[in-house]
Amino acid sequence: MQRKKITISDLYQMKASGEKVTMLTAYDYPGAVACERAGVDSVLVGDSLGNVVLGMDSTVPVTMDDMIRHCQAVRRGIANPFLIGDMPFLSYQVSVAEAVRNAGRFMQEAGCDCVKLEGGSEMADTVAAIVRAGIPVCAHIGLTPQSVAMLGGYKVQGKDLAGAQKLIDSAKALEQAGASMIVFECIPSALAAAITKSTTMITIGIGAGPDCDGQVLVYHDILGLTTRKTPKMAKQFINLLPQIEQAVDDYVREVKAGAFPEDQHGFAMDKSVVAKLKI
Ligand code: KIV
Repeated sequence: MQRKKITISDLYQMKASGEKVTMLTAYDYPGAVACERAGVDSVLVGDSLGNVVLGMDSTVPVTMDDMIRHCQAVRRGIANPFLIGDMPFLSYQVSVAEAVRNAGRFMQEAGCDCVKLEGGSEMADTVAAIVRAGIPVCAHIGLTPQSVAMLGGYKVQGKDLAGAQKLIDSAKALEQAGASMIVFECIPSALAAAITKSTTMITIGIGAGPDCDGQVLVYHDILGLTTRKTPKMAKQFINLLPQIEQAVDDYVREVKAGAFPEDQHGFAMDKSVVAKLKI
């Protein structure tokens, strides 16, 4: 069946009709092609790039140039999914003007459809300014990895009354500011369900239970392509890393043993030409 390019209106339509939105991260062209072929609704080039692709300890060192480069690669691999670029640490916190300019880079240089940024009520003015510039925004509350130092570690957020109320107030402020979508990371399922019911934003959960409008996971987690422990909120659908390691091991052994390459992997030359070679 011919698929069509998914827009923000299509995602709102899916929320209204109760059809779940599928979102997956991707960081490069092959991953993007896999998302396109599988019919993923939305692709997020997450700043988890730092952890799962660039070998960093956190998302904090990821730069705008890193993100733009990887968004461009993903853009080349997808035609239909709604493409979201994740604004990295310090690309939107310093000033509203800088945030709008950097959000614009995702659209102009990488062909994104939307930008994502972390933070609650304190980000409302920034979100409003980006939206005023004509750029759809996906907010992100709960466990926000860029502020892991402030949060005191990678912990579930909003478990007590005060924490939960803060997240509810943040969601309201971000909705008012014009955010179209919001990611809930590691918050109690009941809280995510309650906000989802009461907001116009399309809610996307990761460790936020089944009652969000959609779900997002990290590509490397679902494929078992990571050396880190699979986080509790993720499901590993296949464990590829051992298979990859086995293939690399086989390659090394075959080259060492002279078993690779075989005739079929090479290019023949006519014997009469070989005979005339002056070496
Ligand atoms: O960077 C990322 O991959 C994310 C998702 C986990 C939501 O922010």
